[in-house]
Amino acid sequence: MSEKRPIRLGVNIDHVATLRNARGGEHPDPVRAAQLAASAGADGITAHLREDRRHIRDDDMRRLQEEIDLPLNFEMAATAELLKLCTEVRPHACCLVPENRNERTTEGGLDVAGQHNFITPFVRELTDAGIRASLFVDPEERQIEAAKSAGAPVIEIHTGAYYEAAAVTQPKRIEAEFEKIRMAAAFADSLGLEVHAGHGLTFHNVQPVAAIPQLMELNIGHFLVGEAVFMGLGESVKEMKRLIQDARTGGHF
Ligand code: PXP
Repeated sequence: MSEKRPIRLGVNIDHVATLRNARGGEHPDPVRAAQLAASAGADGITAHLREDRRHIRDDDMRRLQEEIDLPLNFEMAATAELLKLCTEVRPHACCLVPENRNERTTEGGLDVAGQHNFITPFVRELTDAGIRASLFVDPEERQIEAAKSAGAPVIEIHTGAYYEAAAVTQPKRIEAEFEKIRMAAAFADSLGLEVHAGHGLTFHNVQPVAAIPQLMELNIGHFLVGEAVFMGLGESVKEMKRLIQDARTGGHF
């Protein structure tokens, strides 16, 4: 395995839609944000259509697929309604995530091991529709094994616990959570899965994760949109891209 596999940055534009929806209307437009992210060097666009439509709406997904010239990663809960819409939109990829209406954000990975018989048909239908299925899981071997046996070609490792440890600056916890991600990426790769990661990644915590050689894609949203308030979306995407490329190519961090 090469140490220098390329790594992609998927920019999640959900929170541009959060801001738009705070006032209703059409501004700021998440599709325009996706265009800007594309010209700043994003390798893909990610958007999460939640069951309650609190940020991205059905029509945003359609427009992202039609108007943006980058692979679209459609995140959603495993429901029949969302599956129907996703197979109509036909994005490049679909990442299945757990969803709890009362949560602020996706709090944990999908329990693929516990819901194997429920998840597998979703993976099959997505695959039959030509959509690359990805399962968002915690960095645990049993979940990764279950994702493999459900037929998913891709997993995305939930990096939220690492983010939380970094946020309270507890070095031992950061190291332990990072180690789980590193081991999970190596394990998934050894099973032949393509490995992505995301959730809570920032300029300050992204580089050790980006340096994990098996990771092929990082999906990052909230921090980039937050930082856009201060430096502009184009600059925040460019800086994130620079940090992850530097980490991957031999990195100083
Ligand atoms: N990946 C997945 C599967 C997610 O659900 C999310 C949050 O919607 C992200 C990545 C991005 O997380 P954040 O907004 O914290 O960067």
